Amino acid sequence: MLTSDEIRSRFLEYYRQRGHTEIPSASLLPEGDVTTLFTGSGMQPLIKYFLGEPHPAGTRIVDSQKCFRSEDIDEVGDNRHTTFFEMLGNWSLGDYFKAEQLPWVFEFLTKELGVDPSRLYVTVFAGEEKYGLPKDDESVEIWRRIFRGAGIEAKPVHIGDPDRGGEVGMQGGRIFAYSSKKNWWSRAGPPEKMPAREPGGPDSEIFYDFGTPHDPKYGPHCHPNCECGRFMEIGNSVFMEYTKTDDGRFEKLPQQNVDFGGGLERISAAVTGNSDMFQIDTLKRLIDALPGADMRSKRIIADHVRAASFLITDGVEPSNKDRGYMLRKLLRRSIVHSSMLERSENRALSASSGETLERCFGIVCDMYAGTYALDRERILSVFRAENQKFRNTFVNGMRRLDRLEAVDTDTAFTLYESFGLPYEVIKEFGGVKAASLTREAFEGKLEAHRQLSRAGAEKKFGGHGLILDTGELKAKDEAEVEKVIRMHTATHLLHAALRQVLGDEVHQSGSDITVERLRFDFSYPRKLTDEEIRRVEEIANDAVARDLKVECREMPKAEAEKSGALSFFKAKYGDTVKVYTIGDSFSKEFCGGPHVDHTGKIGRIKITKEEAVAAGVRRIRAVVE
Ligand code: SER
Repeated sequence: MLTSDEIRSRFLEYYRQRGHTEIPSASLLPEGDVTTLFTGSGMQPLIKYFLGEPHPAGTRIVDSQKCFRSEDIDEVGDNRHTTFFEMLGNWSLGDYFKAEQLPWVFEFLTKELGVDPSRLYVTVFAGEEKYGLPKDDESVEIWRRIFRGAGIEAKPVHIGDPDRGGEVGMQGGRIFAYSSKKNWWSRAGPPEKMPAREPGGPDSEIFYDFGTPHDPKYGPHCHPNCECGRFMEIGNSVFMEYTKTDDGRFEKLPQQNVDFGGGLERISAAVTGNSDMFQIDTLKRLIDALPGADMRSKRIIADHVRAASFLITDGVEPSNKDRGYMLRKLLRRSIVHSSMLERSENRALSASSGETLERCFGIVCDMYAGTYALDRERILSVFRAENQKFRNTFVNGMRRLDRLEAVDTDTAFTLYESFGLPYEVIKEFGGVKAASLTREAFEGKLEAHRQLSRAGAEKKFGGHGLILDTGELKAKDEAEVEKVIRMHTATHLLHAALRQVLGDEVHQSGSDITVERLRFDFSYPRKLTDEEIRRVEEIANDAVARDLKVECREMPKAEAEKSGALSFFKAKYGDTVKVYTIGDSFSKEFCGGPHVDHTGKIGRIKITKEEAVAAGVRRIRAVVE
């Protein structure tokens, strides 16, 4: 079986043989890019070259880029989420295009790596009429030829909106056309989320079929973008040939570029045919080095230790903000989970001595020694200092837990937030005191907290990958929290009112709430008139005056989408989502909450400012009185 090292080398070699120059991985900390905290894809460091600046290495480039994505950190623990990964990438900077790229990636996977072609399914861009962006028929034809060469008659199927995928199903197809929700790539996400002068383009993704049975929880039928786990995306060819203009249209870039990215860990999983990513050689070495039996804890440690090693090497230090906060979170969660695993061997839960984790850090450094020079000394010294610091907090948390008479959701949350004790530890060590505590209630509270910190920390793009989870609730005391909650519901009212006045084209692209004011960004092409602002205010305040009931219902994501609830950060929502409805149908949005229970509690809403933040994106600020 090919190792990850071999897959990486074969990729680099394959493209070197086709005239590509290999460049080293850029740092995980983007240089001169204020849109995101971490490098999350191979193309990010190359953005200016897509726009026309010549790259010193030429027009054909290949690399393996270290990537870190923090959005999924809370999902790590299942069989497929990681925060750190390597992205294999090849680029054409105004050189070759679709006719070369698609056959190459297919040949690399099937011939160089031996992936069975009958397991591969592909997707293409279905077009987006409202922007005049055509369907990618050319890629459909190229894919048909490629599959025919492998003895497979590849039938195209039109799905369009991926939310309809479960209804359409496979229909014996092999090439699936989806809208820009799935088959368009830019740093900021789909076309409507792109700021002016951002490059982007249609893409064609390759999926590996693990052949697992479809889980009907995700819809009646399976399809490549279904999230039931049968299909996994292993590569994405972006045909980066457009840029957004200042007035929100799309025009061709001076050159046609290709941006290919394929997750090394995912490709390795496809090569082994095992859908558990933690069974690939690199991650498995860490899993095997850990004591105990809890796979979730082991996966969290394996992922976090690896990510932390790379972040520390690139210069991040633990702190309470931004990047440093993320590193601290990775280290502290690793410490807690390794304490739990150690405990399963020797009973007493004490702060980890750190030995298990030091061994893991050592394995990571050895494992990557031939590829990325990790700074072993620095990694260990940062880890030891953090372990020392956290040990006191952790022990104090356990003492606090001991002293409590009962543990309800609120106290459990405080133990988590202030001392880093996770649900499992509280439940296990709280014993009968924590008998009434449920994971559901605890996670509900956590989600509400996340929602608030997200609202307070989201950056202007509002696209995926750009959320700063500072984890610090801006509003500190009860009164402030209450005010933030009132403004959160006010935000939903304003969103609904804006759509009533300006039309359904209005979509949320960002939101930020502090104790002083709310701020709401939305897509709209021009400045609002005074009259429009007045009407929006009036409609929202009328909803306040009617004291409408605010209701939260949990339902499967597919059902929520069908009900027409508005969603922002779609990719972030799990299988079951919360939908908040105001009045009978005044507003309906996917949201984690929290909200007031009646709009009368909001108070008077006043819009204080309306301005542009980017082409096609407006911002309003408002206060509640
Ligand atoms: N930029 C694309 C991605 O991240 C392909 O490299 O998926």
